[in-house]
Amino acid sequence: MSHDAAFELVTLKGGGRSIRSKAHGETMHIGTDPRTEPLELHVTQQRLAERVSGWSGPAPFVIWDIGLGPAGNAITAIEVIREVLGGKSVPIEIHSYEISTDALEFALEHAAELEYLNGWETSIRELLKHGTAFPSPSITWRLHRGDFSRQPHDALAPSVIFFDPYSPARNSEMWNLETFRLMWEAVSAPDAPACTMTNYTRSTSVRVTMLLAGWFVGTGVPTGEKEVTTMASNRLDLLKEPLDAAWLARVRSSTNADPMRGRNNERGPISAEDYARLIAHPQFQGLR
Ligand SMILES: C[S@@+](CC[C@H](N)C(=O)[O-])C[C@H]1O[C@@H](n2cnc3c(N)ncnc32)[C@H](O)[C@@H]1O
Repeated sequence: MSHDAAFELVTLKGGGRSIRSKAHGETMHIGTDPRTEPLELHVTQQRLAERVSGWSGPAPFVIWDIGLGPAGNAITAIEVIREVLGGKSVPIEIHSYEISTDALEFALEHAAELEYLNGWETSIRELLKHGTAFPSPSITWRLHRGDFSRQPHDALAPSVIFFDPYSPARNSEMWNLETFRLMWEAVSAPDAPACTMTNYTRSTSVRVTMLLAGWFVGTGVPTGEKEVTTMASNRLDLLKEPLDAAWLARVRSSTNADPMRGRNNERGPISAEDYARLIAHPQFQGLR
């Protein structure tokens, strides 16, 4: 079945090709292209190559790829890992979460136009058919189908999370306190590894929601036309630019600082109760 009714190919400003979801009215990797954005925002910022090559195991190095979509982030990560590992055998698990594989199937139909997919067709077919693929002997790539926000997280705790759903306006279930709390539970278990999570947002409300769920949160690198993005972690010292007292002061006067709960994605100021919870977060202790 063709997916042309739901998706279309678009040419981005820089000339690269990407995919637009007609239903969601959103273009993937709109900032740059399906190779550059995954590299800048996720792979390089999280120092994936360095962390994978320094991983001593024996447990696998685990990546959660939330919102697999047409697999730009996953494929970029796999390419970087294969290059850095060469013949070295470090067990890697990539867990991709996706509510609908239509975007990936559309991408496969247009692999020739979407350059980043060239050479990966077999792995993607395997992933779609069997739910698991082995893009190289030490990399296990698993597909978890369904709504991520409603799934028990049975994969091992991750070292790296690519958090890439659509925007809160389209995908409120993915951005609420309940979902960020479930993820926080996985990465804050006593035996969980150091973990970082990257996302293109700069929204005050999203950052407040992440903090109230437990995450440490900082400013992320620029990518494309976005001057600022967001990086979160289970360890404060992994953040280059943690949100600070000046940011807290702006939260107070912001008209978009209300944390997201349930499917409520309305803009609003933060309540006094939530602000009190926010300033009690360990990230802000000792700041003045
Ligand atoms: C912006 S696209 C992802 C782009 C992709 N990461 C890439 O690098 O090519 C967002 C994806 O998140 C998926 N998604 C949205 N809500 C979801 C949910 N509740 N659970 C799992 N996946 C979801 C969408 O179906 C869509 O494919």
